Amino acid sequence: MIFKEGILEGKTALVTGGGTGIGQAISLALARAGCDVALASRDPAHLDETRALVETLGRRSIAMACDVRDAALVDALVARVAGEWNRLDVLVNNAAGNFLCPAEKLSPNGFRSVIEIDLVGTFQCSRAVFPLLSVRGGSIINITSTLDYQGVPMQVHAGSAKAGIDAMTRHLASEWGPRGIRVVAIAPGPVGDTEGMRRLGGGREAAIAESIPLRRLGRRDDIASMVVYLASDAGAWITGTSIVIDGGQRLKSSFLDVQA
Ligand code: COA
Repeated sequence: MIFKEGILEGKTALVTGGGTGIGQAISLALARAGCDVALASRDPAHLDETRALVETLGRRSIAMACDVRDAALVDALVARVAGEWNRLDVLVNNAAGNFLCPAEKLSPNGFRSVIEIDLVGTFQCSRAVFPLLSVRGGSIINITSTLDYQGVPMQVHAGSAKAGIDAMTRHLASEWGPRGIRVVAIAPGPVGDTEGMRRLGGGREAAIAESIPLRRLGRRDDIASMVVYLASDAGAWITGTSIVIDGGQRLKSSFLDVQA
């Protein structure tokens, strides 16, 4: 964590998928920066450890089971944050679902499941927090991916969802900017020590790292640090854009990279 502790003192954040992986790193970075942090996950067992860590850092925490596909559960989550804290400054839409599957073998329901978690879930959470965020302004930070920039095989469901979130980021930034709400996306490349890498990396982490210009996988804190930056006044004039954090991995598509 490169930021001064307390840079977000007195603020509150809600992180979906906030108990594990990149979401956990984000939750803890926000807490270190001074935020009280509400955590949501489909599986409440994923939240206990992170909630305890947030409280160890001296911040308040709310942990609540919530499937972001269910609008009523999302509304109940946000109502609880409003009831207990009466303010919200930052929403991090981090919850996601993914698996590798060839497009021709992917069932319509499989495609729909990922679209509903990633894209519809991001909309439902953003919509639900609008009344709270618009009181004093705030930020929505969407965790997307570089998948859709590259057109990766076996990822049509996740890439389509993330492309939709990139578009939603621009639309909501434009519409809600006058209400003091910034909307920004962060697109991570391959990040180590995550469920996503375990699911998608197939044990090829070392080779993937070697293929990246900066010669390493991302760290969860690489993403969490950007969330803190964007949530703070340092990012006060950033909205409606997607910030790639990938060690330069997306650059490796030139024909000159092909070995003879
Ligand atoms: N390959 C192909 N299709 C798959 C699949 C896979 N590995 N995993 C699930 N599906 C399909 C199912 O077959 C089902 O379609 P069907 O009804 O036509 O058979 C559909 O997706 C829904 O599956 P289900 O297991 O009922 O969905 P769910 O809502 O319980 O789970 C997922 C959602 C599919 C995204 C699941 O992978 C998940 O829960 N992931 C959460 C964690 C995660 O993905 N983290 C990594 C982030 S990178």
